[in-house]
Amino acid sequence: MLILVTGGAGFIGSHIVSVFTGAGHEVRVLDALLPAAHHTPPPVPDDVDWRHADVRDRRAVLDALRGVDAVCHQAAMVGLGKDFADAPDYVGSNDLGTAVLLASMAESWVPRLVLASSMVVYGEGRYECARHGVVRPGPRRIAELDAGRFEPPCPRCGEPLSAGLVGEDAPTDPRNVYAATKLAQEDLAASWARATGGRVAALRYHNVYGPGMPRDTPYAGVASLFRSALARGEAPRVFEDGGQRRDFVHVRDVAGANLSALSGLSGLPEGGLRAYNVGSGDPHTVGEMAAALAMAHGGQASVVTGEYRLGDVRHITASSRRLRDELGWKPEVDFAEGMAEFAVDPLRAG
Ligand SMILES: NC(=O)c1ccc[n+]([C@@H]2O[C@H](COP(=O)([O-])OP(=O)(O)OC[C@H]3O[C@@H](n4cnc5c(N)ncnc54)[C@H](O)[C@@H]3O)[C@@H](O)[C@H]2O)c1
Ligand SMILES: [Zn+2]
Repeated sequence: MLILVTGGAGFIGSHIVSVFTGAGHEVRVLDALLPAAHHTPPPVPDDVDWRHADVRDRRAVLDALRGVDAVCHQAAMVGLGKDFADAPDYVGSNDLGTAVLLASMAESWVPRLVLASSMVVYGEGRYECARHGVVRPGPRRIAELDAGRFEPPCPRCGEPLSAGLVGEDAPTDPRNVYAATKLAQEDLAASWARATGGRVAALRYHNVYGPGMPRDTPYAGVASLFRSALARGEAPRVFEDGGQRRDFVHVRDVAGANLSALSGLSGLPEGGLRAYNVGSGDPHTVGEMAAALAMAHGGQASVVTGEYRLGDVRHITASSRRLRDELGWKPEVDFAEGMAEFAVDPLRAG
């Protein structure tokens, strides 16, 4: 197949390109090389047809769709951003960009889409109260966070909750601009599928890490920020009390999930979107991740600072059973092995 990978010059996109070409597919990449993601253009593999363009540029997208069998849409502005002033850029790149891409796919009769979504569409993870069963805590209050009370209490009785795994059918509840744009991408893709009879697999990635991760910017993920601190000879600074639970999934496994989704698309119902969590299934705390990286790097031990960011959620871990059961995917890189490799691998210069 000929596959258009948008954002194929990025961290995850470049691994997808290698996995797709390795599986015998032809790949075309469209990427705007956003300055937030790249200071210097990355090397483009020889066997890839390369288009330097923005997904909002309809003419460039229509041209890039010529002869394409399926699209793997990774292009997006990622991370929490610096402040709310970033909102128009996020919405522009992620939602207007997706709308232009989908309209162009409708016009070009390209009926298959693998969409990079995110666990951020869920907001907080799944919580259970001993008395009230499954509950949905609202955003955490500033006064609570200032007092170092990071665990969201039961919204009904105020008692402590236990955190569990989110399934794809859990209600969505985006808590920041980036999250809102990722959910809107799914909603737009679902509308496109209904209108055109197309098929979409929306892959809700968890915390992706691994080789080629961009160096620390306000947009980078926590693993990259810790790794960059170690490279500067500094201690990784862990926010809150370090007890935030996440699912760190290796970028090669995420690329593999894209290949499984691409192969499984034809088995999905026509005119619909199917969401899949993409996580390792082996949750760890942010504190454990910092400690594992620091130990493998051989630098300073991590420090827990008690600082917080308002947009952050406390725990978010999900079950990725659906992806395993329906599309036959299985993660191959385990936490200790992946972190040990990541601790010494060079980061992308940016
Ligand atoms: N890294 C993670 O942990 C994570 C987690 C969940 C979801 N995701 C999603 O995975 C996808 C890839 O993220 P990444 O971590 O590789 O980020 P990245 O910044 O390394 O890659 C994104 C790429 O998209 C390009 N791009 C952005 N806006 C564009 C536009 N308007 N037109 C054309 N190209 C554009 C950038 O230049 C960059 O090369 C994104 O959709 C992101 O939302 C990432
Ligand atoms: Zn309760």
